[in-house]
This record gives sequence, structure tokens and C-alpha cells, in this order.
Amino acid sequence: MSTPKLSIAEMTGRDIATDSFWRGKTFDDFLFRPQKGIIESRTRITLTSPLTNNLPLDLPIVSSNMDSVTGKTMAQAMALEGGLGVIHRALSIEQQAGKVTQVKRSHSAIIERPLCLPSGTSMREARAFARQHDITGILIETRAGSGILAGLLSDRDIPWSDEHIDDTVDTFMTPYSKLHTHPPGISPEDAERILFEKRIERLPLVDDERRIHGLITRKDIVFLRRRPFAAKDGKGRLLVAAAIGARGDYLERSAALLEAGADCLFIDIAHGHSVIMEDAIGRVRKQFGDIELVCGNVATAEGARYLRDAGASAIKVGVGPGRGCRTRLETAAGVPQLQAIQEAWSGVRDTVPIVADGGVRYDKDIFMALICGASAVMLGSALSGTDEAPGRVIEDPATHTKKKIYRGMTSPEAVFESLYDTEDGDAVDAAMATPAEGQELQVPYKGSVVDILHRIRGHLRSAVSYAGETSLESAREKILSDPARFLIPLSGAAYRESYDR
Ligand code: XMP
Repeated sequence: MSTPKLSIAEMTGRDIATDSFWRGKTFDDFLFRPQKGIIESRTRITLTSPLTNNLPLDLPIVSSNMDSVTGKTMAQAMALEGGLGVIHRALSIEQQAGKVTQVKRSHSAIIERPLCLPSGTSMREARAFARQHDITGILIETRAGSGILAGLLSDRDIPWSDEHIDDTVDTFMTPYSKLHTHPPGISPEDAERILFEKRIERLPLVDDERRIHGLITRKDIVFLRRRPFAAKDGKGRLLVAAAIGARGDYLERSAALLEAGADCLFIDIAHGHSVIMEDAIGRVRKQFGDIELVCGNVATAEGARYLRDAGASAIKVGVGPGRGCRTRLETAAGVPQLQAIQEAWSGVRDTVPIVADGGVRYDKDIFMALICGASAVMLGSALSGTDEAPGRVIEDPATHTKKKIYRGMTSPEAVFESLYDTEDGDAVDAAMATPAEGQELQVPYKGSVVDILHRIRGHLRSAVSYAGETSLESAREKILSDPARFLIPLSGAAYRESYDR
């Protein structure tokens, strides 16, 4: 992304906070002027955009760190579609780190620590082990914990009947001498070629001493091939982020999350433009160095600069626009979301990316956020109510319609549940002293989040085409270079023309 040298205020002498073009404006206040389309197929339009300067996303959508939005399953689905899930923190440290581990282990091109059983194990145990872990191939090591490959037992080697159930795995496995193996350090592409050439399902990675370094399976490679946008780390594992706070156990939590493989931490507090946040960023940086650290929330240029200068890798923007939020109603604090995005961007100018958080109701709001300064957009309610969001589907007895719960993280219900088992008296006191700024809602059940992400990808590509560009990046650059030329503020009548239907 090119980095303009001067801020809008410096270039134009205008201050976004008081500029009447932006002041008081949010998503529904503008349309953008369609430009001559220059691409034949919208599928060629790229949407890649940075979450942080080191973490590009093919689909710049992030799921909210809320207990009704992002757990393990949502994080997996988000990364598989090219976005990112932020595992919420209303969990014990072990539970939250466990979810990060589960995402990192799932759908990986290379399974780094494959599950093993020792030579001499009975077929009965091996069958139960395969069922328990839902795996179709087990590496057999010479003895428990040796890490030396003795053979491979695949599901085809495990008989259905109980006839040989008390024999050992050694009778049925393919022994090391007959296995195709490869030294560690192979790329997923080379592995795919070898799996095809040898017509094999699994390729164990072993060194000269037969020590096990990993396992590559055809099933995982094919699965990932069908998801060309998947957000992956250098080892081919899905990307995942996790939230921490700015008080209490956040340093211990960060250590556990990073150890589990989290690619990015989000320090998430309601009022991010605060000395508490500055202190937390300083401590996290001191202890963990150059990690990816998204910080928020703020809603002003001063707030964005403050967090960037404190050491944030990206700034999360949004005070009160969220559907589960009551902050504006209870405190009157807030900045209309499109003004906040433009202000924050003008405060830091792509030196660090902006993540727009909250208030998205239509897919066009995502595009508006992205062309007005955001590099990624966090969604809560838009992704809630899906199969992948935590929580059960409930049936409304009055209407016989299916629903799920969506709730603000400071809603009484979410706070009560997170403190239910705690022995941390300070956390309970702090919660009791802070009135709720969130609410619980029932949202319609929406099916799979994958369909929603496909729809968003399609609408973003169409919007880029209407903007007369071939990529989100160039559409953003064009509109940010002269917003007053490309954006049309709506009169009351124009607003009704768009929305009264
Ligand atoms: P949407 O509009 O996408 O917003 O549902 C999601 C964002 O809402 C924020 N959030 C809260 N804000 N009180 C608030 O004022 C709350 O209890 C609360 N819980 C979540 C959060 O930034 C999320 O990403």
C-alpha cells in the first residue's frame, strides 16, 4: 500500500473532526459515484488488504472477539475463507489457549506433531484411538515417546470385525521399510507432487535417524486446495488471533496464547485512548517484542496516533456503533463510525492499518469503511446467528422461527457468565462497579458463515468494479485521494430513495 507523505489536514488545511463533509457522518450518509468499469470478470478482482503491516488478508474481514461470535469453529471458518477470527477472552487462559491450539492443528498442510501409538499396541486400542481423535492414519513409533518411526497404520489396515482385535498393530501396519517418507522442510507444493506421483495418501516426514518431524496427508492438501483464499502462516497452518485485556492476567494470558501459536493479539478495551492501554502496550512489547498487536478501541485521530506511538501494529476503531452496544445511550460518548474511520486514518495515514469495528448492517458498509480509511473490518452481529458462532439454535415458540443469541460483551448476561466460576474477587468488584454498556439480542438463524463470507466477497468485488478499478487497494487509493469528488452526501429524499423499500 502506498503511503502518502502528508495528512489530509496537512494537505488541505482541513481538520476531519470539524470538517462538515465528514462531521456526524456514518455509512448510510453517502453513496459513491460509479466509475467506468474496466474488468471483464469480477472473479479477477483482488481484495487483499493488510490487517497489520505484516499480516495481509485475502478477505479483509475479522470476526469479533465476542462469546456469541468467535470460538474455535468460527476462527477456522474465517481463516479458511481468507479472513481471521479473534478468539474471545471470556474464558480461562487454558481454555482460550486450547482453542488457539485447536485452530492451529486443524487443516494444516503439514501436521507438525502427528498423533502416534507405540509398537505393541492392540488393534482394539488403535481403533478406539482413531475414533477418539477422528483420524484415518496413525504413525506407529518404536516405543512410547521414542519419536522413531516404526510404521503407519491407516484406516484401511483396521479391520471392521473383531476377529483380529487383540493382535498388535505391528501385524497390520505398513512397516517403515515399505513406506514412502521424506526429510522435513518440504513445501506443501512439493509434498502434493510426491503424493500424486507415488499415489499415496500420507507422507511421514522423518530425518536420517527415522525421527518423526511431521506428517502430510492428501486429504488436508486437497481440502486446502479447494480453499484458495485460506489465511495461512509460513508452515501452512491456519491463521488465528486472540483477545487479551489491559489489566489483570493479560501478560500471563499473552504468553499462553503466543505459546499456543496465536498469530496476532488484540488488546481490546472499551476506551482504548487511555493511560491503561498505553501501559499495557508497553508491557506487552517489553515482554514479547515484535508481535502483531492490534489495539483499540478509539474513535478519533488523536486516539489513533496515541496508540500507534505507544506501539500498536494496527488500530481498532469504533466507540459505540456495535449492535450489542449501549455505550452511546448510556454515556453519550462516541463518534459516528464513518467519521471515526476517516479521522483515525487521517491521524496515522497508513503508517499502521485501521480496523473498522462495529456498525456494519449491509455489505456496502464494509466497502464504505474500506474506501474511507479502514484496511480491515471487524464484524459481530453480521456473522452471529450462524452455525459456526458459539451457542445453540433456539426456536421462537411464538413464530416457530429459528434464532441464536448475540450479546455485547459487557451485557449483564455475558458478564455474569464470565464471572460465574471465578475466584478473582477484584474482577467481580470491577464488574459490579461498571454498569452494563451492552445488551443481549436474539438474531435470526442464518446457516453457515461460509455462505455469508462468499456473499460479502462477491459484493466487495462488484463494488470495486463500480469504482472502475481492478483491486480493492486501487479503489481505496482512488477514493481516499479525493473523497469529496467520489462520495455523494445524501439528502433526506435521496436517503429515502435508497432505504425506504
Ligand atoms: P457489530 O455492529 O458488528 O459490532 O455487531 C461488533 C462490535 O461491538 C463491540 N462490542 C461492544 N460494544 N458494549 C459496547 O459498547 C458491549 O457490550 C460490546 N460488546 C461488543 C465490539 O467492538 C464488537 O467487535
